[in-house]
Amino acid sequence: MAITEHSALTGLRPASVQDSRQLEEIAREAYGKYLGLVDEPPAPLLLDYREVAASGRTHVAVSDDGVIGMVTVEPDDPYLILRNLAVHPVCQGQGIGKKLVEFVEEMARSAGLKGVRLWTRAEMVENISFYRRLGYVITHAERNEHAHRVFLCKESSSRRD
Ligand SMILES: CC(C)(COP(=O)(O)OP(=O)(O)OC[C@H]1O[C@@H](n2cnc3c(N)ncnc32)[C@H](O)[C@@H]1OP(=O)(O)O)[C@@H](O)C(=O)NCCC(=O)NCCS
Repeated sequence: MAITEHSALTGLRPASVQDSRQLEEIAREAYGKYLGLVDEPPAPLLLDYREVAASGRTHVAVSDDGVIGMVTVEPDDPYLILRNLAVHPVCQGQGIGKKLVEFVEEMARSAGLKGVRLWTRAEMVENISFYRRLGYVITHAERNEHAHRVFLCKESSSRRD
């Protein structure tokens, strides 16, 4: 079934290998707008989505029509790193990205971790606004010959010590 702007979020669940093609499509559609803005294709466009789906570290946002969003986490004790957050463009602006971010924050909190860290390309200014709106603060920036990255962090509000 096709994903449309009417494909409403029904829940979040761990990704499975059967989701691979949908994850690849979401990445292509969501990150495609950055082709040309940055020198190299954004890293999520180069991933093997069978591996991403099978990693056990990716969760998907689902609707009755199929997968509409995804997020991957990576442990980096005492933080959880949020990677590859993407929502199908026709479903953006409906709070799905925020739900996926909050889900990762809850994962960090319930694991007793200090918070969530992430980075984005400096050229992707709308992402920096998005995360700042969700309470993330810029910690630092790094520039090398390949990329200019901005790092952000949000501390867990109630850490279990
Ligand atoms: C970033 C992304 C995941 C946001 O998903 P989304 O479902 O559209 O976001 P939401 O609807 O949950 O928005 C949450 C909040 O952020 C705000 N927001 C959303 N997009 C924004 C933008 N481009 N700039 C500033 N604020 C933004 C919303 O207004 C909303 O604020 P509110 O809660 O006060 O109403 C989505 O735009 C996307 O897939 N982008 C392409 C892939 C990408 O660049 N991912 C990030 C990699 S670091």
